[in-house]
Amino acid sequence: MKKILSVIGTRPNFIKLAALNKTLPKNLKHIVVHTGQHYDKNLYADLYKDLGLIKPQYNLAVGSKPDHTQIAQMFQGLVKVFVKEKPLIVLIYGDTNSSLAGALAASYKNIPIGHIEAGIRCFDDSLPEEVNRKIIDRLSTLLFCPTKTGYINLRKENLQKGAYVTGDIMYDLFLKTKQKHLVLPATAKDFYLATIHRQQNTANAKILTKTLDFLNNQNNIVIFPIHPRTKSVLGNPHKVFGNIIFINPVNYSESLYLISNAALVITDSGGIQKEAYWSKTPCFTIRTSTEWPETLEGGANSLINISHKKIIRPYGLKFNKHKFGDGHAAKKIAALITSFVNAS
Ligand code: UD1
Repeated sequence: MKKILSVIGTRPNFIKLAALNKTLPKNLKHIVVHTGQHYDKNLYADLYKDLGLIKPQYNLAVGSKPDHTQIAQMFQGLVKVFVKEKPLIVLIYGDTNSSLAGALAASYKNIPIGHIEAGIRCFDDSLPEEVNRKIIDRLSTLLFCPTKTGYINLRKENLQKGAYVTGDIMYDLFLKTKQKHLVLPATAKDFYLATIHRQQNTANAKILTKTLDFLNNQNNIVIFPIHPRTKSVLGNPHKVFGNIIFINPVNYSESLYLISNAALVITDSGGIQKEAYWSKTPCFTIRTSTEWPETLEGGANSLINISHKKIIRPYGLKFNKHKFGDGHAAKKIAALITSFVNAS
């Protein structure tokens, strides 16, 4: 049986795999390797059940380390698996350190790479994800762009060979999950939802406290599922943030439920900016750049600086969801992978 292999390691990788998994043809053997970048039960254990994923065949259990050590250990472990399994293609999802390690290992073993979420750029090389994206795209044979913007970015870097605009698999999954779960009665949209975990916003307790002060100053209560990175920086705060309700990380379906019922989303996540957009919930992104410029059009998403004390809820926003495909991106990607493998 012909083999293909997926590398995952973090929550967003799991979600993207779930969006593609069921569309892959049954006559291909699909091996999944989890690098172990995320190991916290709160972060992903519930995801298997929620997303209908089976446990990966391999778990390299690399865990949290400084970037260079983490990537090096993943690289070593992945090379061993690739040598043993000899897949015809390695599938890489998004832009995390696990994605980068997977692309490097495949490339050193001369195995073609299919990159899901290719061409996305925020044009800020100080973010590790941006560096990862550029390297992965450079090494990939098949590049699946979620948006036209992604394809245009690749063309500017002369990487358009093997690139296709397929639509966004996260939009596919959003539509399916919405049909299944979001029929619960909507709440009064009387809360804001916040998620903050990026390195630049959690580099130290002082920066993070400034952001929490900002959230604490808002007129609505703020529900805040707290990422382990954020939690470890915050420790046991001396300050009380009476306006913020901290909760454990939520699973994918719960997250969509909160996003679609919030009056406003405040985030530094890439995926949540899009999910807010598709839910027609206004979004404020605490970053200086975004890899999803489509969400900024019509004011649906704004990049904000937390030195503005209060935020005014925007009205009359435009949401053009068709920029992210027709909800059948996974099928298109699966067909392209199948014909590539059949020709190998
Ligand atoms: C990673 C991705 C980021 C993605 C995010 C989703 C990279 C470079 N970044 O960031 O793009 O948006 O995943 O969550 O790959 N930690 C735990 N338990 C865990 C995992 C992490 O406590 O299971 C804590 C540790 O203190 C760790 C820190 O979080 O040092 C950062 O974890 P890491 O996996 O390096 O990056 P994320 O911030 O999760």
